[in-house]
Amino acid sequence: MRATQMAPIAGLRPVAPTLIQIRNLKKTYAAGRVQALSNINLDIADGEFVCVVGPSGCGKSTLLRILAGLDDYDSGQVMLGTKTVSGPSRDVGVVFQQANLLPWLTVRENVALPLRVGGGRPDGADDVDRLLEVAGLKDFGGRYPYELSGGMQQRAGICRALVRNPRILLMDEPFGALDALTRERMNLELQRIWQSTGKTVMLITHSISEAIFLADRVIVMSARPGRVLRELTVDIPRPRSNDTIISHPDYPALAKEIRALLTGQGEE
Ligand SMILES: Nc1ncnc2c1ncn2[C@@H]1O[C@H](COP(=O)(O)OP(=O)(O)OP(=O)(O)O)[C@@H](O)[C@H]1O
Ligand SMILES: [Mg+2]
Repeated sequence: MRATQMAPIAGLRPVAPTLIQIRNLKKTYAAGRVQALSNINLDIADGEFVCVVGPSGCGKSTLLRILAGLDDYDSGQVMLGTKTVSGPSRDVGVVFQQANLLPWLTVRENVALPLRVGGGRPDGADDVDRLLEVAGLKDFGGRYPYELSGGMQQRAGICRALVRNPRILLMDEPFGALDALTRERMNLELQRIWQSTGKTVMLITHSISEAIFLADRVIVMSARPGRVLRELTVDIPRPRSNDTIISHPDYPALAKEIRALLTGQGEE
């Protein structure tokens, strides 16, 4: 999974081996009438946390679905390690905006579900109770989803995505439906989970502050048809906190640049 087959993008020097490589990716919908992604080139390093921002409809979810093997594409190359993406893989866990837990199963049973439907327990599968503990849900394994807050349900969804021990976690606006304070707490939790699991994460968000808080690198996409407009490295030490991040000297310039790029693309 670690070999690098294609030449790296000029100017990009990932500190770890490249895990995800996207080259000249094009995607259309509606028999070619809607061009969703025009020409995406992107490298994501093993263990890196990347946030993707961009105007609504620019193709962020399309990109995530292609990486997850849930959507096909017209042309280009999409590689996870040495493998071309051709369908869902156990190397990838996905979290969407809604946790979509099954209401008739307990939290523990929901989190364990991929182990059951995925055909038994794969090597290295994470222990369900350990994951619940990492996500701050230790005492809620026996509860049902309706007994949990929205933020707790999302954390359970993250546990479910991690239970088969994937190398990559893809998240599509996972905290978009939560209030601002819960969202800040979730960002802290996610940073902690990421630091303790060492996964490679790609997270889509509309929040500039969330992107800067979480990311090693922020990818700004252009309006549809989507392409990578700019990549900004966030060189702010971890663990980050909601207070220290905004008082860091790099924060205002990063936020201003991302905002200017998005505003120029028609998104405020
Ligand atoms: N199944 C589909 N059929 C036709 N067009 C689609 C389909 N899915 C997405 N599109 C179009 O492709 C474009 C990209 O959609 P996508 O959902 O990837 O955008 P997005 O960046 O995730 O937007 P948002 O920020 O609003 O979630 C949009 O113009 C959308 O209308
Ligand atoms: Mg989307």
